Amino acid sequence: MPCFNMWTAPMIVLGTLSACFGGDSRDVVITSITPNKIQSSTARTLDLAIENLPELPGQLLCVFTIGETTLTTEAIKQTNGIKCTNIPSIPVGLHNITAKLSVRSDFFTTKFNFFDCNSYSSCTQCVSSDFPCDWCMNGHRCTHDTAENCRNDILITGVSRVGPSFRSGPAFCPTIIGTNTGSREILVASNSKKAVNVKVHIVSQFIAQSRFECQFNIESRVFSVNAQLRDDDVIHCDPMKFTYTSQLSNINASFAVIWGGSKPLDNPDNVHVNIYKCPDLANNCGLCLALPEKYRCGWCESSKRCEIFQQCDNGLGVWLKRDHTCPI
Ligand SMILES: *[C@@H]1O[C@H](CO)[C@@H](O)[C@H](O)[C@H]1NC(C)=O
Ligand SMILES: *[C@@H]1O[C@H](CO)[C@@H](O)[C@H](O)[C@H]1NC(C)=O
Repeated sequence: MPCFNMWTAPMIVLGTLSACFGGDSRDVVITSITPNKIQSSTARTLDLAIENLPELPGQLLCVFTIGETTLTTEAIKQTNGIKCTNIPSIPVGLHNITAKLSVRSDFFTTKFNFFDCNSYSSCTQCVSSDFPCDWCMNGHRCTHDTAENCRNDILITGVSRVGPSFRSGPAFCPTIIGTNTGSREILVASNSKKAVNVKVHIVSQFIAQSRFECQFNIESRVFSVNAQLRDDDVIHCDPMKFTYTSQLSNINASFAVIWGGSKPLDNPDNVHVNIYKCPDLANNCGLCLALPEKYRCGWCESSKRCEIFQQCDNGLGVWLKRDHTCPI
Protein backbone atom coordinates (compact mmCIF):
# COMPACT_ATOMS: atom_id res chain seq x y z
CA MET A 1 0.00 0.00 0.00
CA PRO A 2 1.43 3.39 -0.88
CA CYS A 3 2.04 5.19 2.31
CA PHE A 4 1.59 8.75 1.18
CA ASN A 5 1.69 10.93 -1.83
CA MET A 6 -0.35 14.01 -2.47
CA TRP A 7 -3.38 12.01 -3.42
CA THR A 8 -3.38 9.23 -0.88
CA ALA A 9 -3.50 9.73 2.83
CA PRO A 10 -1.15 8.82 5.66
CA MET A 11 -2.56 7.54 8.88
CA ILE A 12 -1.61 9.74 11.75
CA VAL A 13 -2.51 9.12 15.32
CA LEU A 14 -3.20 12.36 17.10
CA GLY A 15 -2.22 12.16 20.74
CA THR A 16 0.60 9.68 20.50
CA LEU A 17 1.39 10.85 17.07
CA SER A 18 2.90 8.36 14.74
CA ALA A 19 2.91 8.73 11.02
CA CYS A 20 3.62 6.55 8.13
CA PHE A 21 6.36 7.95 5.93
CA GLY A 22 7.97 7.14 2.67
CA GLY A 23 6.64 3.98 1.14
CA ASP A 24 5.63 4.07 -2.47
CA SER A 25 5.23 7.80 -2.59
CA ARG A 26 7.37 8.42 -5.64
CA ASP A 27 7.83 12.15 -6.07
CA VAL A 28 6.08 13.72 -3.15
CA VAL A 29 7.32 12.59 0.24
CA ILE A 30 6.45 13.76 3.71
CA THR A 31 9.73 13.73 5.52
CA SER A 32 8.47 14.78 8.92
CA ILE A 33 5.45 15.87 10.88
CA THR A 34 5.92 18.40 13.68
CA PRO A 35 5.01 18.17 16.51
CA ASN A 36 5.36 14.42 16.57
CA LYS A 37 3.08 14.20 19.57
CA ILE A 38 -0.02 16.24 20.12
CA GLN A 39 -0.84 16.57 23.78
CA SER A 40 -4.58 16.82 24.33
CA SER A 41 -5.74 20.05 22.76
CA THR A 42 -2.61 22.18 23.17
CA ALA A 43 -1.18 22.04 19.68
CA ARG A 44 -3.44 23.57 17.07
CA THR A 45 -1.13 23.46 14.06
CA LEU A 46 0.77 20.71 12.33
CA ASP A 47 3.82 21.22 10.14
CA LEU A 48 4.35 18.75 7.34
CA ALA A 49 7.76 18.83 5.72
CA ILE A 50 7.21 17.70 2.16
CA GLU A 51 9.79 17.04 -0.49
CA ASN A 52 8.99 17.99 -4.04
CA LEU A 53 5.74 19.70 -3.20
CA PRO A 54 4.33 20.55 -6.64
CA GLU A 55 3.08 24.01 -7.48
CA LEU A 56 -0.66 23.59 -6.93
CA PRO A 57 -3.21 26.19 -7.98
CA GLY A 58 -5.90 27.28 -5.54
CA GLN A 59 -6.17 27.06 -1.79
CA LEU A 60 -4.49 24.05 -0.17
CA LEU A 61 -6.53 22.13 2.37
CA CYS A 62 -5.72 19.63 5.09
CA VAL A 63 -8.50 17.08 5.29
CA PHE A 64 -8.81 15.02 8.48
CA THR A 65 -11.06 11.98 8.29
CA ILE A 66 -12.00 10.55 11.68
CA GLY A 67 -14.42 7.68 11.27
CA GLU A 68 -17.28 9.00 9.16
CA THR A 69 -16.45 12.62 9.89
CA THR A 70 -14.42 14.83 7.60
CA LEU A 71 -12.88 18.04 8.86
CA THR A 72 -11.31 20.41 6.38
CA THR A 73 -8.90 23.05 7.60
CA GLU A 74 -6.75 25.63 5.90
CA ALA A 75 -3.26 24.64 4.81
CA ILE A 76 -0.57 27.26 4.44
CA LYS A 77 2.30 26.75 2.01
CA GLN A 78 5.73 26.98 3.59
CA THR A 79 9.25 26.77 2.23
CA ASN A 80 9.63 23.07 2.94
CA GLY A 81 6.07 21.90 3.00
CA ILE A 82 2.80 23.00 4.50
CA LYS A 83 1.22 23.92 7.82
CA CYS A 84 -2.24 22.60 8.72
CA THR A 85 -4.10 25.04 10.94
CA ASN A 86 -6.95 24.47 13.40
CA ILE A 87 -6.36 20.75 13.61
CA PRO A 88 -9.07 18.82 15.43
CA SER A 89 -8.64 18.31 19.15
CA ILE A 90 -9.14 15.02 20.94
CA PRO A 91 -12.58 14.69 22.46
CA VAL A 92 -12.55 14.74 26.28
CA GLY A 93 -12.22 11.26 27.79
CA LEU A 94 -10.37 9.69 24.86
CA HIS A 95 -6.65 9.00 24.98
CA ASN A 96 -6.12 9.20 21.31
CA ILE A 97 -7.94 9.27 18.05
CA THR A 98 -6.80 8.07 14.70
CA ALA A 99 -7.26 10.43 11.83
CA LYS A 100 -6.54 10.02 8.18
CA LEU A 101 -4.86 13.12 6.84
CA SER A 102 -4.84 14.12 3.22
CA VAL A 103 -3.70 17.27 1.54
CA ARG A 104 -5.50 18.59 -1.45
CA SER A 105 -6.11 21.64 -3.51
CA ASP A 106 -9.58 23.16 -3.82
CA PHE A 107 -8.82 24.28 -7.35
CA PHE A 108 -10.05 21.06 -8.93
CA THR A 109 -13.28 21.01 -6.97
CA THR A 110 -14.03 24.62 -7.82
CA LYS A 111 -13.41 24.06 -11.46
CA PHE A 112 -15.73 21.05 -11.49
CA ASN A 113 -18.57 22.90 -9.79
CA PHE A 114 -18.21 25.76 -12.16
CA PHE A 115 -19.17 23.62 -15.06
CA ASP A 116 -21.71 21.45 -13.33
CA CYS A 117 -24.83 22.78 -15.05
CA ASN A 118 -26.25 19.27 -14.69
CA SER A 119 -27.00 19.95 -11.05
CA TYR A 120 -29.89 22.26 -11.99
CA SER A 121 -33.12 20.34 -12.43
CA SER A 122 -35.38 23.21 -13.44
CA CYS A 123 -35.23 25.62 -16.36
CA THR A 124 -35.66 28.66 -14.12
CA GLN A 125 -32.70 27.75 -11.90
CA CYS A 126 -30.61 26.72 -14.90
CA VAL A 127 -30.95 29.86 -16.99
CA SER A 128 -30.83 32.21 -13.96
CA SER A 129 -27.51 30.72 -12.86
CA ASP A 130 -24.27 32.70 -12.65
CA PHE A 131 -22.66 29.95 -14.67
CA PRO A 132 -22.82 29.61 -18.47
CA CYS A 133 -25.66 27.08 -18.50
CA ASP A 134 -28.46 26.61 -21.05
CA TRP A 135 -31.71 24.67 -20.86
CA CYS A 136 -32.77 22.13 -23.50
CA MET A 137 -36.55 22.20 -23.42
CA ASN A 138 -37.37 18.78 -24.81
CA GLY A 139 -34.38 17.04 -23.27
CA HIS A 140 -35.44 18.71 -20.00
CA ARG A 141 -31.87 19.22 -18.89
CA CYS A 142 -29.37 21.91 -18.09
CA THR A 143 -26.09 21.81 -19.97
CA HIS A 144 -22.98 23.87 -20.68
CA ASP A 145 -22.47 22.16 -24.01
CA THR A 146 -25.54 22.60 -26.19
CA ALA A 147 -23.79 21.37 -29.33
CA GLU A 148 -23.18 18.05 -27.64
CA ASN A 149 -26.29 17.70 -25.46
CA CYS A 150 -29.02 19.75 -27.07
CA ARG A 151 -29.06 18.91 -30.77
CA ASN A 152 -32.35 19.70 -32.60
CA ASP A 153 -33.85 20.81 -29.33
CA ILE A 154 -35.47 24.10 -28.33
CA LEU A 155 -32.87 26.06 -26.46
CA ILE A 156 -33.32 28.64 -23.70
CA THR A 157 -30.04 30.37 -23.09
CA GLY A 158 -28.80 31.33 -19.65
CA VAL A 159 -28.58 34.95 -18.57
CA SER A 160 -24.81 34.51 -18.10
CA ARG A 161 -24.28 33.80 -21.79
CA VAL A 162 -23.02 36.67 -23.86
CA GLY A 163 -24.08 37.30 -27.43
CA PRO A 164 -27.41 37.29 -29.24
CA SER A 165 -30.01 34.69 -28.39
CA PHE A 166 -33.51 33.87 -29.57
CA ARG A 167 -34.78 33.00 -26.09
CA SER A 168 -32.81 34.07 -23.06
CA GLY A 169 -33.58 33.91 -19.36
CA PRO A 170 -36.30 32.53 -17.09
CA ALA A 171 -39.15 34.43 -18.82
CA PHE A 172 -38.91 31.80 -21.56
CA CYS A 173 -39.18 28.82 -19.24
CA PRO A 174 -42.41 26.80 -19.25
CA THR A 175 -43.92 27.56 -15.84
CA ILE A 176 -46.99 27.41 -13.62
CA ILE A 177 -48.03 31.00 -12.90
CA GLY A 178 -50.81 30.62 -10.34
CA THR A 179 -54.56 30.33 -9.97
CA ASN A 180 -56.84 32.50 -12.10
CA THR A 181 -57.24 34.81 -9.10
CA GLY A 182 -53.45 35.18 -8.96
CA SER A 183 -53.14 33.24 -5.71
CA ARG A 184 -50.42 30.68 -5.08
CA GLU A 185 -52.71 28.63 -2.85
CA ILE A 186 -55.46 26.32 -4.10
CA LEU A 187 -57.96 25.58 -1.31
CA VAL A 188 -59.85 22.30 -1.11
CA ALA A 189 -61.97 20.96 1.75
CA SER A 190 -60.86 17.50 2.78
CA ASN A 191 -63.04 14.70 1.45
CA SER A 192 -64.35 16.84 -1.40
CA LYS A 193 -63.82 16.67 -5.16
CA LYS A 194 -62.17 19.47 -7.06
CA ALA A 195 -61.02 20.14 -10.60
CA VAL A 196 -57.91 22.26 -10.15
CA ASN A 197 -57.17 24.94 -12.76
CA VAL A 198 -53.96 26.88 -13.05
CA LYS A 199 -52.58 29.53 -15.36
CA VAL A 200 -49.42 28.46 -17.11
CA HIS A 201 -46.83 29.94 -19.41
CA ILE A 202 -46.26 27.27 -22.06
CA VAL A 203 -43.96 29.03 -24.54
CA SER A 204 -43.80 26.42 -27.28
CA GLN A 205 -46.22 24.64 -29.62
CA PHE A 206 -44.18 21.57 -28.99
CA ILE A 207 -45.21 21.47 -25.33
CA ALA A 208 -48.74 22.68 -26.08
CA GLN A 209 -49.33 19.58 -28.21
CA SER A 210 -48.07 17.13 -25.63
CA ARG A 211 -50.07 15.17 -23.07
CA PHE A 212 -50.52 16.80 -19.65
CA GLU A 213 -51.00 15.38 -16.21
CA CYS A 214 -51.51 16.99 -12.80
CA GLN A 215 -49.72 15.49 -9.83
CA PHE A 216 -50.50 16.08 -6.18
CA ASN A 217 -48.23 14.90 -3.41
CA ILE A 218 -50.43 14.41 -0.34
CA GLU A 219 -48.77 13.11 2.82
CA SER A 220 -45.92 11.68 0.69
CA ARG A 221 -48.24 9.82 -1.70
CA VAL A 222 -48.43 10.94 -5.32
CA PHE A 223 -51.84 11.15 -7.04
CA SER A 224 -52.09 11.82 -10.78
CA VAL A 225 -54.99 12.88 -12.97
CA ASN A 226 -55.10 13.76 -16.67
CA ALA A 227 -55.19 17.39 -17.67
CA GLN A 228 -56.00 19.54 -20.72
CA LEU A 229 -54.52 22.80 -21.90
CA ARG A 230 -57.23 25.29 -22.93
CA ASP A 231 -57.10 28.88 -24.19
CA ASP A 232 -53.31 28.56 -24.57
CA ASP A 233 -52.65 29.29 -20.93
CA VAL A 234 -54.94 27.37 -18.57
CA ILE A 235 -54.34 23.80 -17.41
CA HIS A 236 -57.54 22.02 -16.37
CA CYS A 237 -56.83 19.01 -14.17
CA ASP A 238 -59.50 16.31 -14.13
CA PRO A 239 -61.58 16.30 -10.91
CA MET A 240 -60.07 14.47 -7.98
CA LYS A 241 -61.14 13.75 -4.42
CA PHE A 242 -58.77 15.26 -1.87
CA THR A 243 -58.43 13.66 1.55
CA TYR A 244 -55.82 13.37 4.24
CA THR A 245 -55.51 11.34 7.40
CA SER A 246 -53.46 13.42 9.84
CA GLN A 247 -55.05 15.19 12.82
CA LEU A 248 -54.04 18.65 11.58
CA SER A 249 -56.71 21.19 10.67
CA ASN A 250 -55.02 21.72 7.29
CA ILE A 251 -52.04 20.45 5.29
CA ASN A 252 -50.18 21.55 2.19
CA ALA A 253 -49.88 19.25 -0.80
CA SER A 254 -47.32 19.99 -3.48
CA PHE A 255 -48.56 20.31 -7.01
CA ALA A 256 -46.97 19.70 -10.40
CA VAL A 257 -48.06 19.86 -14.02
CA ILE A 258 -46.25 17.18 -16.02
CA TRP A 259 -45.85 17.28 -19.79
CA GLY A 260 -44.38 14.73 -22.20
CA GLY A 261 -44.71 11.90 -19.70
CA SER A 262 -42.24 12.99 -17.07
CA LYS A 263 -41.30 16.65 -17.38
CA PRO A 264 -42.66 19.02 -14.74
CA LEU A 265 -43.37 22.64 -15.65
CA ASP A 266 -41.34 24.93 -13.39
CA ASN A 267 -43.18 26.08 -10.30
CA PRO A 268 -40.98 28.94 -9.10
CA ASP A 269 -43.64 30.47 -6.83
CA ASN A 270 -44.56 27.14 -5.24
CA VAL A 271 -48.19 27.04 -6.28
CA HIS A 272 -49.62 24.37 -3.96
CA VAL A 273 -52.86 22.90 -2.63
CA ASN A 274 -54.03 23.54 0.92
CA ILE A 275 -56.45 20.85 2.12
CA TYR A 276 -58.43 21.73 5.21
CA LYS A 277 -61.11 20.32 7.52
CA CYS A 278 -63.78 22.84 8.56
CA PRO A 279 -64.64 20.90 11.76
CA ASP A 280 -61.00 21.19 12.86
CA LEU A 281 -60.68 24.85 11.91
CA ALA A 282 -63.68 25.72 14.13
CA ASN A 283 -65.40 23.60 16.77
CA ASN A 284 -68.38 25.85 17.48
CA CYS A 285 -70.84 27.87 15.45
CA GLY A 286 -69.44 31.30 16.37
CA LEU A 287 -65.89 30.41 15.34
CA CYS A 288 -67.16 28.62 12.24
CA LEU A 289 -69.08 31.62 10.88
CA ALA A 290 -66.06 33.84 11.60
CA LEU A 291 -63.70 31.79 9.43
CA PRO A 292 -62.36 33.56 6.33
CA GLU A 293 -64.81 33.30 3.44
CA LYS A 294 -62.26 31.54 1.23
CA TYR A 295 -62.80 28.28 3.18
CA ARG A 296 -66.56 28.22 2.41
CA CYS A 297 -67.22 26.62 5.82
CA GLY A 298 -70.63 27.06 7.49
CA TRP A 299 -72.47 25.71 10.51
CA CYS A 300 -74.39 22.51 9.79
CA GLU A 301 -77.43 22.38 12.11
CA SER A 302 -78.13 18.68 11.58
CA SER A 303 -74.61 17.50 12.44
CA LYS A 304 -73.78 20.43 14.79
CA ARG A 305 -70.45 20.69 13.00
CA CYS A 306 -68.61 23.21 10.89
CA GLU A 307 -68.84 21.88 7.32
CA ILE A 308 -68.83 22.97 3.72
CA PHE A 309 -72.35 23.15 2.28
CA GLN A 310 -71.99 19.99 0.20
CA GLN A 311 -70.99 17.95 3.26
CA CYS A 312 -73.90 19.14 5.46
CA ASP A 313 -76.28 16.21 5.12
CA ASN A 314 -75.12 15.90 1.48
CA GLY A 315 -76.26 19.44 0.78
CA LEU A 316 -79.73 18.88 2.22
CA GLY A 317 -79.09 19.99 5.82
CA VAL A 318 -79.79 23.36 7.44
CA TRP A 319 -76.56 25.21 6.82
CA LEU A 320 -75.71 28.62 8.29
CA LYS A 321 -73.19 30.83 6.54
CA ARG A 322 -71.31 33.98 7.43
CA ASP A 323 -74.23 36.46 7.38
CA HIS A 324 -76.46 34.22 9.49
CA THR A 325 -76.74 34.23 13.29
CA CYS A 326 -75.83 31.24 15.41
CA PRO A 327 -78.73 29.63 17.30
CA ILE A 328 -78.64 30.27 21.07
C1 LIG B 1 -5.69 4.60 21.78
O1 LIG B 1 -6.97 4.46 22.36
C2 LIG B 1 -7.49 3.16 22.29
C3 LIG B 1 -8.89 3.17 22.88
O2 LIG B 1 -9.45 4.41 22.86
C4 LIG B 1 -6.59 2.19 23.06
O3 LIG B 1 -7.07 0.87 22.95
C5 LIG B 1 -5.17 2.27 22.51
O4 LIG B 1 -4.31 1.50 23.30
C6 LIG B 1 -4.68 3.71 22.49
N1 LIG B 1 -3.37 3.76 21.84
C7 LIG B 1 -2.36 4.38 22.38
C8 LIG B 1 -1.09 4.29 21.60
O5 LIG B 1 -2.42 4.97 23.43
C1 LIG C 1 -48.78 26.01 3.69
O1 LIG C 1 -47.94 26.84 2.89
C2 LIG C 1 -48.10 28.23 3.14
C3 LIG C 1 -47.28 28.99 2.12
O2 LIG C 1 -46.02 28.45 1.96
C4 LIG C 1 -47.67 28.50 4.58
O3 LIG C 1 -47.84 29.88 4.87
C5 LIG C 1 -48.53 27.67 5.54
O4 LIG C 1 -48.08 27.84 6.85
C6 LIG C 1 -48.45 26.19 5.15
N1 LIG C 1 -49.40 25.45 5.97
C7 LIG C 1 -49.08 24.29 6.57
C8 LIG C 1 -50.16 23.62 7.36
O5 LIG C 1 -47.97 23.80 6.50
